[in-house]
Formats: sequence, C-alpha cells, structure tokens
Amino acid sequence: MRTMITGGGRGLGRALVEECLRRGHRVATTVRDPSRADLGPDVTVVPMDVEDAESIRSAVELAVTALGGLDLLVNCAGANAKSYPDAEGTISIAGLTADPFLGIVRVNTVGPLLVAQAALPALRAAEAGRIVNVSSWLGSIGGTTAGWNYAYAASKAGLNMVTRILANELREDGIAVVAVNPGWVRTDMGGPRAELTPEASAAGIVTVAEELTPEGSGRFVDWNGAEHPW
Ligand SMILES: NC(=O)c1ccc[n+]([C@@H]2O[C@H](COP(=O)([O-])OP(=O)(O)OC[C@H]3O[C@@H](n4cnc5c(N)ncnc54)[C@H](OP(=O)(O)O)[C@@H]3O)[C@@H](O)[C@H]2O)c1
Repeated sequence: MRTMITGGGRGLGRALVEECLRRGHRVATTVRDPSRADLGPDVTVVPMDVEDAESIRSAVELAVTALGGLDLLVNCAGANAKSYPDAEGTISIAGLTADPFLGIVRVNTVGPLLVAQAALPALRAAEAGRIVNVSSWLGSIGGTTAGWNYAYAASKAGLNMVTRILANELREDGIAVVAVNPGWVRTDMGGPRAELTPEASAAGIVTVAEELTPEGSGRFVDWNGAEHPW
C-alpha cells in the first residue's frame, strides 16, 4: 500500500509511520521542519504546514511522486488549545478570542480537507483509494457533556462533518473516507497519564485503514474499529 501520513515526525503520526512500515507499506510523511525529523531512510519526508495551502499542494505532489501513486491518506497532523500558539483562551468562554479559534479550525478541519483535495487525483487513480481522518472523541456532539475546549472540540466536530460529506461525494469514485477517534494517547498532546501507547492506537488505526471498504465509508469509529457515536 502506498501511504501518506501527515504529521509523522512525532506523536501518533510517528507511530503510524512505523506501524505502516512494519506492515510493508511504502510511506511518505509530512513535518513542518524536515531538518528536525529523524525517521530513517525508508520514509519519504516532505515539508508541510497544514495552514499553508501552497505547502499542502507541494507536499502532496512530492509524496505522490516519491510513492509512485497513493492508496491511503491519513490526516493525523492536529493541534489543540495547548499546542496552538496563544490558544489557551479557547478552552473557556471567558478567554475566548477569534484568531486562535480560527487557527485551530484551519489546522484540524480545513487543512485535512485541503490535503484530501490535493490527493484526490492520485486516490482516484488507485484501485481502492482510502482517507482516514484522525478525529477525537471530543468531536462527538452526542457525547459532549463538558463545558470546555470550544475550539478543539468544534474543530474535530467539523472534521467529522467534513469526513461524512467527503465520503458521500467520493462514493461514486470508490474512495472510502472515515473519521477515527484514536483514544487518549500518550503523546505531547495526550500527556503522560494517557491510557494508550501511540503504538497500540496506531496499530488499531492502520487495521481500520487496511480493512476499510466503500461500504464502510462515512463512519466515525474508534481506533479499535468500534462504532463511535457522532
Ligand atoms: N493524543 C491524544 O490523546 C489524542 C486524542 C484525540 C485525538 N488526537 C489527535 O491525534 C492527532 C495526533 O495527535 P498527537 O497526540 O500525536 O499530537 P502531538 O503530539 O501534539 O503532535 C502533533 C502533530 O501534528 C503536527 N502539526 C501540528 N500543527 C501542524 C501544522 N500547522 N502543520 C502541519 N503539522 C502540524 C505536528 O507536526 P510538527 O512535528 O511539525 O510539529 C505533530 O506531528 C491529532 O489530530 C490530535 O488531534 C490525539
């Protein structure tokens, strides 16, 4: 399988790169600063900032050329109120301002859709193109009971909707699209108390991707393949 993973320099994205390599995929990944990536010779590393449309176009082109096509796109790069600049205020109503809120939406909702758009010609040419959008349980509207984290939760709910619409639009092309909740994962974002290792979450997500069929398109699932409520 020819696989492109966004945000593969660290965290869950890196574990996804390593899991895909173990399973024999050819892998290209994106990082914002390739000079800091130490991923080894088996991975094509291309620069991409998901807030920059031109860098998305060029990263997808470089990745598709290096892989000789594309079967699977995993949109994993993401940011929350702690990792996006000046965004801590978007956690509660009192400190909320528009720009960091919109920045998180650009990274988590609009960016993945633009990466998918750029990858579409290659995915259409594949035998069974697939897109996996890494979402979050915090993007579940039905499951939301907490009164916090406005920007991040809204951006992942937006990603879920974008996933569903894209799945509908690409059905006739035979391209399957899903949103995956990776669980609470021990990364910079998840912190040291998180339940899951990046390796365990990544192994589940790659299985979801490999087993994805057009019939299963348009769903929101957990890392272990179980249905997640919208
Ligand atoms: N960890 C959890 O418990 C958890 C739970 C639910 C959902 N998720 C989701 O899982 C995904 C991976 O999270 P993580 O835990 O691995 O987070 P992380 O440790 O904070 O890593 C974030 C990743 O996203 C990339 N990234 C951030 N902003 C970017 C931008 N503007 N352009 C391009 N790449 C950007 C980073 O790339 P650089 O190396 O270039 O900075 C890095 O690879 C995210 O979508 C996150 O929302 C995580």
